[in-house]
Amino acid sequence: MKYIELNNGISMPILGYGVYQVPDYEECKNSVLEALKAGYRSIDTAQAYNNEKAVGDAIKESGIPREELFITTKLWVSVYGYDKAKKAFADSMEKLQLEYLDLYLLHQPFNDIYGSWRALESLYKEGKTRAIGVSNFHPDRLVDLISFNEIKPALNQIETNVFYQREEDHEVMEEYGVQHESWAPFAEGNGDFF
Ligand SMILES: NC(=O)c1ccc[n+]([C@@H]2O[C@H](COP(=O)([O-])OP(=O)(O)OC[C@H]3O[C@@H](n4cnc5c(N)ncnc54)[C@H](OP(=O)(O)O)[C@@H]3O)[C@@H](O)[C@H]2O)c1
Repeated sequence: MKYIELNNGISMPILGYGVYQVPDYEECKNSVLEALKAGYRSIDTAQAYNNEKAVGDAIKESGIPREELFITTKLWVSVYGYDKAKKAFADSMEKLQLEYLDLYLLHQPFNDIYGSWRALESLYKEGKTRAIGVSNFHPDRLVDLISFNEIKPALNQIETNVFYQREEDHEVMEEYGVQHESWAPFAEGNGDFF
């Protein structure tokens, strides 16, 4: 597995396994177990995917040392805001059954982004997550967030694939030192991709 270095110095596997649209407990748990057996070390889930417990159980059952794994989850917009974000993080961690997270993302650029980001900054400073970042942030929202907060997002996870290259977004992320991460790298199977 190749690794990339995020802007706070931590390493992240360049390939990850995502569990969007796998709400079924058994299917999700078995998929994550198989992915880990196949060599994946980065798992991407979200509060909104309703499968953090299945991911947590798979991680536990895999027996892979925690430090070898890179686990991402995301805060959903309905619980944005400082206090609600802190509580949502604790709920996610309980389901994932982890002592610490690797990457916590704001899932979408809506609602109380600032209050939520400050909660993420606080969680990061407390050592509860090794990195914090965003998802689906267009350049204007990303630059605004960077300009008026203390900690810069380590990463922005946006839709990117052969049909949708996001050159302008990529340029801005490079300029600000924010790692570009792709979601739907297989174009969700559309456009005769395979
Ligand atoms: N941050 C966000 O807002 C956001 C949004 C979307 C996704 N994500 C993350 O990104 C991850 C990946 O994105 P994604 O799952 O939406 O899309 P994707 O990885 O681009 O594509 C998944 C699709 O590819 C098909 N597929 C995969 N391997 C195949 C193969 N060998 N042959 C034929 N078809 C194949 C699957 O079909 P079947 O279903 O039929 O197997 C599925 O429909 C998600 O799981 C999630 O973690 C994040």
